[in-house]
Amino acid sequence: MSSKNSIKSTLIVAFCLCVVCSIIVSGTAVVLKPRQDANRILDRNKNILAAAGLYDSAVNSDSDVDSLFAQFTTRIVDINSGELLSETELENLGLDAGSYDQRLIMNDPELSEAISSEQDQANVKRRALYQTIYFVEDDSGLETIVLPISGYGLWGILYGYIALEGDANTVKGLAYYELKETPGLGAEVRNPRWTALWPGKKVYSDDGSVGLAVVKGAGTGDYEIDGLSGATLTSRGVDDMVKYWLGDDGFGPVLKSVVGP
Ligand SMILES: Cc1cc2nc3c(=O)[nH]c(=O)nc-3n(C[C@H](O)[C@H](O)[C@H](O)COP(=O)(O)O)c2cc1C
Repeated sequence: MSSKNSIKSTLIVAFCLCVVCSIIVSGTAVVLKPRQDANRILDRNKNILAAAGLYDSAVNSDSDVDSLFAQFTTRIVDINSGELLSETELENLGLDAGSYDQRLIMNDPELSEAISSEQDQANVKRRALYQTIYFVEDDSGLETIVLPISGYGLWGILYGYIALEGDANTVKGLAYYELKETPGLGAEVRNPRWTALWPGKKVYSDDGSVGLAVVKGAGTGDYEIDGLSGATLTSRGVDDMVKYWLGDDGFGPVLKSVVGP
């Protein structure tokens, strides 16, 4: 056997090939990371705008996102106390409202907590102690409040935003930016024809509980949204997460502290 065809040469060539390929793959991942992060933030901001009815893909493009998003004030709230954190409190916690990403700290025991099974209506298991919410204010006061929501559908957790009017009781819109549901079935939660059913619906019943509901079949009245046909489990997931995040165990106390009881 010539030395070229020896087992040793084959192993050396295979090893060198692995090293070169891994350098190329990891180098590409490092080079593309900033662009991926920027795209992730762009997509998130676009969905916050879409939930608030401020971004229309038929009219707007990615280049409009930054200027449109400038209307928002980003605030971080303590979800348990309902209090908006001051600059000093954020500094003490080492958080920066602009760059804080509550999904990245979900396994940090200092910054997140387990949700008890009795309370975990959205079936998300954990939540960030400090949540990012967004306001649009005009001369007459608070115009829009955008809250992050998440909850289990059929195949995994759906992540999105719900926007409310300044009264914290009227829905402005809903937008999901990440989900694992089936295209044409559960993923129809992103269909503009379905999300168009949300604006104007009311959140709280007279007794203060969340009356907003996704129902099987056609929704009627001020509170009900049509369930998606063929996607009852995803629809139920949306119903559960809306009830959890807008309820007393979710952003209910935050909304009370922002707009008053
Ligand atoms: C391949 C496949 C994918 C499905 N994807 C979803 C889904 O994303 N969301 C959902 O709620 N149901 C999905 N279903 C249907 C559920 O299994 C279930 O039948 C449905 O939620 C019942 O809805 P219906 O009562 O409106 O018919 C899927 C079913 C199959 C076979």
